[in-house]
Amino acid sequence: MTKIFLADKEDTQQLGITLGETLAAGSVILLEGDLGAGKTTLVQGIGKGLGISDSIVSPTFTLINEYTEGRIPLYHLDLYRLEPQEVTGLNLESYWEGMEVTPGIVAIEWAERMPYKPDSYLIVRLIYGQEGTRQAEITTVNCQINFLQES
Ligand SMILES: Nc1ncnc2c1ncn2[C@@H]1O[C@H](COP(=O)(O)OP(=O)(O)OP(=O)(O)O)[C@@H](O)[C@H]1O
Ligand SMILES: [Mg+2]
Repeated sequence: MTKIFLADKEDTQQLGITLGETLAAGSVILLEGDLGAGKTTLVQGIGKGLGISDSIVSPTFTLINEYTEGRIPLYHLDLYRLEPQEVTGLNLESYWEGMEVTPGIVAIEWAERMPYKPDSYLIVRLIYGQEGTRQAEITTVNCQINFLQES
């Protein structure tokens, strides 16, 4: 696990930008952390890093927003309003299998609600610190991200 200190919202966005610039198509990011921890802020950075000019808003009611104008597609999901058994019916694996859907980056808020996971993914957990700071804890499962020198 790698820990990254985020002094402010701009730092959180910048981490997202770096992810958006470097992650390969087919990457799945599971975003964890309390209400307001900065999950959507991070995804906004990912959008910037991909070169998406549309503004990225939380898909709390739509469940998923798709952005296709960047380097690779961005699929932004928010499972906040769902129970784990409802998540099963969404057929989320179509987003990372890359058969029905063009492979891109899949970013999932409230990923704690997922009853199953892909074979490889990244977990980014955002934790509140003092006065607008956050800590990102990044865990990779069966994948690597180049800019992280794993310790
Ligand atoms: N270091 C920080 N990183 C990210 N956001 C921060 C930081 N400091 C303050 N903020 C503020 O906290 C809020 C984070 O909101 P955001 O929607 O990104 O959180 P979220 O985790 O997606 O929330 P939700 O659980 O409701 O989906 C924003 O208003 C942002 O300006
Ligand atoms: Mg959010």
